[in-house]
Amino acid sequence: MSADRKKQLAAEAALDLVHDDEIIGVGTGSTVKWFIEGMAARRLRIRGAVSSSEATTKLLVKHGFDVVDLNSTGELPLYVDGADEADPHLRLIKGGGAALTREKIIAAASRRFVCIVDDSKLVPVLGRFPLPVEVIPMARSYVSRELVRLGGRPIYREGVVTDNGNQIVDVHDLEIVDPLALESAINQIPGVVTVGLFARRPADLLIVGTDQGTKTIDRSTL
Ligand code: A5P
Repeated sequence: MSADRKKQLAAEAALDLVHDDEIIGVGTGSTVKWFIEGMAARRLRIRGAVSSSEATTKLLVKHGFDVVDLNSTGELPLYVDGADEADPHLRLIKGGGAALTREKIIAAASRRFVCIVDDSKLVPVLGRFPLPVEVIPMARSYVSRELVRLGGRPIYREGVVTDNGNQIVDVHDLEIVDPLALESAINQIPGVVTVGLFARRPADLLIVGTDQGTKTIDRSTL
């Protein structure tokens, strides 16, 4: 089965968790695209969506969903998003699509974070996927030197400007044995806007598309 079909399976399973009349958070990426298209196909009547990127906003609007400002919603009942890597504790690497800052904000502001992935995203230890870090443009070189001190090999993602007007540095060659500590350490570097490590706020439920269908991992049962 193709990776894209597995993404679709995971996204479809997440649709069962969406309730009418709720405002939900919606992530970014090719897996979430299936989720948005699935909401439209099933004619789910959510009250609105808080969007994690301009790309997601476009897709939501195209399918007739109202996009609302997080400042007007209070806590969200549900946030659905993909990931670039997930470990067995449901800690994640995100930001391959450069939307990590808004994604992290929405994940933090949501009661339940449901992450949808295909099984290629599962890893025993995070770090095979280069860790995205969003930086204030003037701080890029300084932050990169600090990331080298932390053991990484930062590479500037040329030509990419985030929805917030910032730049992305991807950190290669990390074996992230203590994601919580690394997330804190990178957050301390002046000029860092967001690190794409989701350890402090991991997923609550991971839905994985596999050749055999979907499997779910609930963090409360770990
Ligand atoms: C966006 O910045 C990312 O965090 C995405 O959630 C992540 O890259 C997953 O993307 P796919 O669903 O396209 O694999």
